[in-house]
Amino acid sequence: MTLGVRLIKISAIYFAIGVCLGWYMSISHSFTLTPVHVHINLLGWTALTLAGIIYHLFPQAAVTKLAKTHFWLHNIGLPLMMIGLIFVVYGNHAFIPVTAIGGTLIVIAVIIFTINVLQHVKE
Ligand code: HEM
Ligand code: HEM
Repeated sequence: MTLGVRLIKISAIYFAIGVCLGWYMSISHSFTLTPVHVHINLLGWTALTLAGIIYHLFPQAAVTKLAKTHFWLHNIGLPLMMIGLIFVVYGNHAFIPVTAIGGTLIVIAVIIFTINVLQHVKE
């Protein structure tokens, strides 16, 4: 399976989780988990789908070391950030470092993705 296809499949799973969470928040009128919902949908579904489509359209950008590094950092960072954030929004501040490390991994992943796109996405 190519990197692009793998990202699209992973992003669809985040989409399902994100809308289930939105549905739960709506029916329970409990908005504590809004930041988790937002980032699962935007960093999990939207960002990863777009990256997957870009890697599919520009296969030369999908086979680089930068692409593999982006893939792993984002896919390790996001679950860490989301699981950490669930604990943090419910008041467990011991999980702030987990959330921060996850978020930092994603930021590094996105910078690497940006470099990869600038260097390897060509007509
Ligand atoms: C059936 C699907 C969805 C449901 C039921 C749902 C439900 C909700 C609810 C209840 C809130 C909290 C509103 C509040 O705090 O006042 C919310 C916030 C939000 N949702 Fe969703 N959502 C869904 C899908 C999505 C998707 C697909 C995305 C993005 C790709 C998204 C992005 C957001 C954002 C950005 C916010 C924060 C808005 C703000 O800051 O005011 N949602 N959603
Ligand atoms: C590693 C990357 C990111 C980090 C560390 C981060 C961090 C944060 C933080 C700390 C907040 C404030 C939460 C609060 O007030 O409770 C926030 C809110 C928000 N972020 Fe991000 N963010 C990231 C990426 C993104 C991306 C890529 C998007 C959109 C594509 C996004 C959209 C939003 C939105 C819509 C809100 C408002 C949510 C609400 O109303 O509760 N974030 N983010």
